[in-house]
Amino acid sequence: MPIILPPITRRKFLRHSIAIGGTSIIAPSQLASTVSEAVHLDQNRVALLSDTHISVDPDSVYPGTKWPGSPVKDSEHEWVNMANCLTQTAKSVIALNPRPANLIINGDCTHSNGKEAECKEFLRLIEPIRAAGITIHVTVGNHDNRKNLWKLLPFLKKEHMGIQAGVIELPRANLVLLDSGRKGVLGNEQLNWLAQQLDERVKKPALIFSHFNPYSNRGVRPINGMSDGASLLKLLAKRKHARAYFYGHTHEWQHDRRDHLHLVNQPAVSYYFGKGHAHGWVDMNLTEMSAYLELNCINPKHKQHGDRRQVFLQNKKK
Ligand SMILES: [Fe+2]
Repeated sequence: MPIILPPITRRKFLRHSIAIGGTSIIAPSQLASTVSEAVHLDQNRVALLSDTHISVDPDSVYPGTKWPGSPVKDSEHEWVNMANCLTQTAKSVIALNPRPANLIINGDCTHSNGKEAECKEFLRLIEPIRAAGITIHVTVGNHDNRKNLWKLLPFLKKEHMGIQAGVIELPRANLVLLDSGRKGVLGNEQLNWLAQQLDERVKKPALIFSHFNPYSNRGVRPINGMSDGASLLKLLAKRKHARAYFYGHTHEWQHDRRDHLHLVNQPAVSYYFGKGHAHGWVDMNLTEMSAYLELNCINPKHKQHGDRRQVFLQNKKK
């Protein structure tokens, strides 16, 4: 049975907002927010989350540092409460002024395999974000169930080719969401679709999102890249307006660059694999020239809290 949603439709949102360039002003009282003054929703600001791994049980904790071959001793694993991490992230994002108009969770929304009770708990935890007027988008990770997501959380559905894929057109960049499925495969049909979407929008920089790493992880935990990652990178290398590929899956904050293409590995909101590693979310601000990324750690005292990266959206003029 579908979960009953208190829907916050785009039509309802627009009725209560005044568009000013890339920014909207919204009266939160009309969207059940507890904030008394009007806040701005900024189309040029996007909250980037990944790997929330929400369990059925809000008290559930998990040792991300534990896997076969982990260098962490059995007595020293670090356990993380996933629901608390998402709650804290939601509060941080909602507190921003201006608020990001959009928020992307780049896969692994749920902990095990996207069962109905996990989707229900995930919905409960993201409701404050929706009530704050922020539009949520997701990609499908290897721990998600696409059919359950569509059936139980229909407001998240973006269907092309029978998978979760779509384009979010923002004033300064187009965001392309891809579906790497449960096994880390995009497939020729989706790659062709991606090429077509990019070729139809050459005048604006594009940022591409999907869950899997495109090549083997160079970080703390060995994880193979998606099987057609090389084809993806070749496709993006040929298109200079494709400026960055964002992915999760490795639960590690890393940044590479190949010519014009930035490769941004988002940290997990929930547990991390490397002992003491950063977990949290990324605040992305788009200007005409750049996407500025700022890491917001769940632990504000973490040494990487506030870490910044710059993704160039235009080629430098010679
Ligand atoms: Fe994950």
